[in-house]
Amino acid sequence: MTIAEMQEEILRIKKEKNICILAHAYQADEILEIADYVGDSYGLALNARDDDKKTVLMCGVRFMAETVKIISPEKKVILPAPDAGCPMAEQLDIELLEALKAKYPDHTVVAYINTTAELKTICDVCVTSSAALRIVKNIDNDKILFIPDPNLGKWVAKQLPEKEFKFVNGGCPTHCRIMKDEAIKAKKAHPDALLLVHPECQPEVTELSDYAGSTTGIMDYAKNSDKKEFIIGTENSIVSHLQHMCPDKLFYPLSKDCVCHNMKLTTLADVYNALLGKTGEEITMDEDVRIKAKKCIDKMLELS
Ligand code: 13P
Ligand code: SF4
Repeated sequence: MTIAEMQEEILRIKKEKNICILAHAYQADEILEIADYVGDSYGLALNARDDDKKTVLMCGVRFMAETVKIISPEKKVILPAPDAGCPMAEQLDIELLEALKAKYPDHTVVAYINTTAELKTICDVCVTSSAALRIVKNIDNDKILFIPDPNLGKWVAKQLPEKEFKFVNGGCPTHCRIMKDEAIKAKKAHPDALLLVHPECQPEVTELSDYAGSTTGIMDYAKNSDKKEFIIGTENSIVSHLQHMCPDKLFYPLSKDCVCHNMKLTTLADVYNALLGKTGEEITMDEDVRIKAKKCIDKMLELS
């Protein structure tokens, strides 16, 4: 079967079985083409809330599939590539966070959505990269314990000097690979280009950017800008998606190393086989964990 034939079959089966396919923007082109919705973590969460199909296939990483299950327990949620996890979501465990909460009892615990459902049960509010600034601004407390990404946290903190932040060590291994030197070099090589980065990048990289935002934010910014050249500081699939969408503009990857292997684990064949019920994992969750984790996602939706 060719890629095009497989895509045709996927579209036919998903229509016949009334299945919703969600895809994070870091997925491969051939997956984006058969998805019902493509977006950033925030957009995926909203779609999970609003779509009424009973089965959802989440092409992304585990915490994204868990988020769908937390919001919509009545849905059957399938992760087509069960090994696709976000390493950052595993960086903090319950014991460590409990110890931090005991150390900073007056702080509101803000969890990046890239966390496990279990960890969310002891956090106060979730954020995504696109809504983090808005949400933290709206929190009725000026003491914030931001976990697990210190880079996103510092980007938010810089814009909210009235609040006091505590961070933990960690971050996204993919975005942390981008070095300040690469940003300086890329800007010199492409003096007319704007540098657009994801706030998961290290602060010294983000500081050099013309715009920092979520994956959807970066794509919208580039699409709507009058400028013709852009250096993209996020997962490199965004470079090719943008080049495909805006053929009259030029896009350069800030670093060839910015590839998230976990996001690349889902193949079109995985999607096809998962639709047929042959492979993939159905997400299950302890109801107590789900209810507690949901509080923190509900708070995110309320404050954003
Ligand atoms: P957003 O798509 O929300 O910007 O997040 C990026 C990311 O790394 C997802 O894991
Ligand atoms: Fe996790 Fe980073 Fe990959 Fe996103 S890009 S899934 S934060 S490792």
